[in-house]
Amino acid sequence: MTTNVLVIGGGQNAEHDVSLASAAAVAAALRMGDNAVTCVTIDRDGIWRADGIPAGVSAAESMALALPLLARAEVVFPAVHGPLGEDGALAALCALAGVRVVGSAQRAGAIGMDKWTTKLVADAVGIRTARGRLVCAEDIGDVEFDGAVVVKPASAGSSYGVSLVRDDDELLPALRTAARFDRRILIEEVMRGREIDVAVLREAGGIRWAAPPLEIHAAGLFDTAMKYDGTAQFTVPASLGGDELAALRRAALAVFDALGCAGVARMDFFLTDDGPVLNEVNTMPGLTAASQVPRMFAAAGVAYPELIERLVRGALKG
Ligand SMILES: Nc1ncnc2c1ncn2[C@@H]1O[C@H](COP(=O)(O)OP(=O)(O)O)[C@@H](O)[C@H]1O
Ligand SMILES: [Mg+2]
Repeated sequence: MTTNVLVIGGGQNAEHDVSLASAAAVAAALRMGDNAVTCVTIDRDGIWRADGIPAGVSAAESMALALPLLARAEVVFPAVHGPLGEDGALAALCALAGVRVVGSAQRAGAIGMDKWTTKLVADAVGIRTARGRLVCAEDIGDVEFDGAVVVKPASAGSSYGVSLVRDDDELLPALRTAARFDRRILIEEVMRGREIDVAVLREAGGIRWAAPPLEIHAAGLFDTAMKYDGTAQFTVPASLGGDELAALRRAALAVFDALGCAGVARMDFFLTDDGPVLNEVNTMPGLTAASQVPRMFAAAGVAYPELIERLVRGALKG
C-alpha cells in the first residue's frame, strides 16, 4: 500500500544546506519504494516552499498555506538539522497536527540539541562527559583563561562556532564566534582520545540496536570544512576490542533511552584510556548515503534505502 510521505528539508540555521542534502537523499530513497513523496523546503528566512514555489510572503502565512500538505501526509520526515528542526520544533508541529513523524519527539529533540542539558542527563545515568561550564554571551568579557579549552555554542551543529583555544588571546575571539550561534556557550576541557560515533535505531517493533561504530580520523577538531569538503576519513566498522565495543554500545543505548529518542540517533564519543566519554547526541543526524549514520548501518547489512524505509515504518507503528 502506497504511503504518503512529506519530506521537509532546509531550515532556519547554519546547517540549511546540509539539511537540503539530507532531505534530497531521503526523498530519492523513498521514491524507490512504495511511497508517494512530497517535498517542502523551509528557507533560511522561515518561508515554506512547496515544489520550489514560496507558499506565502511571511513564515506564518507560508506555513498556513503548506499545512494542507501536512494534513494529507501519513508520515512526515523532518530532515532538518539544528535549531527549529532537530530540536523538536518540527516534531512538536506534527504532534499538534496529529501526524506521525520520523525520529525523536519534541522532548528528546530539545534535550539532544542542547549540549549542556545532554551532559546533565548523561551524567545522571553514569555516562561520562567532558567537564565543562556554561557562560552567557553577555558575560564573555569576564571569562579568564586557565589552560587549553574547547569553546562551543550549547546548541548548534556541523562544528559551527566550535574552537580549540590554546592561548589567552584566542579565548575572547572564540567566545565571540560561539556567541554568533547561541547565547549560551560551553567551555569544555579538551578531551584526548579516538572520536567514535555510535548510531542507534529504534525499529517498528520497539527494539533498539546499535550499528557497528565509526571512527573519525581528524588531526585536531573535526571541523566544518573537513565535514563537507570530502577530506574526512572514516573507518567503519571502527577497529575496537570486545570490551570497548560493549562499553560504547551500552553507553549509546543508555543515552538513547534516557533522552527517550526514537527513529535513529547518533551518539558521538571520545574513546579515552578510561573508556567512552560522550561528546554529543544528534537526533536528526546527516542522512545522505555518504553520511556517518547510513555508512554504519550499511556495515550492518542495512542498505541506505532500507534504512530510510525502516525509519518511516517505525514512525507509522508509533
Ligand atoms: N571537549 C572537546 N575536546 C576535544 N575535542 C572536542 C571537544 N568538543 C568538541 N570537539 C571537537 O570538535 C568537533 C565538533 O564539536 P561538537 O561538539 O561535536 O559540535 P557539533 O554539534 O557542531 O558537531 C568534535 O567532533 C571534536 O572533533
Ligand atoms: Mg559533532
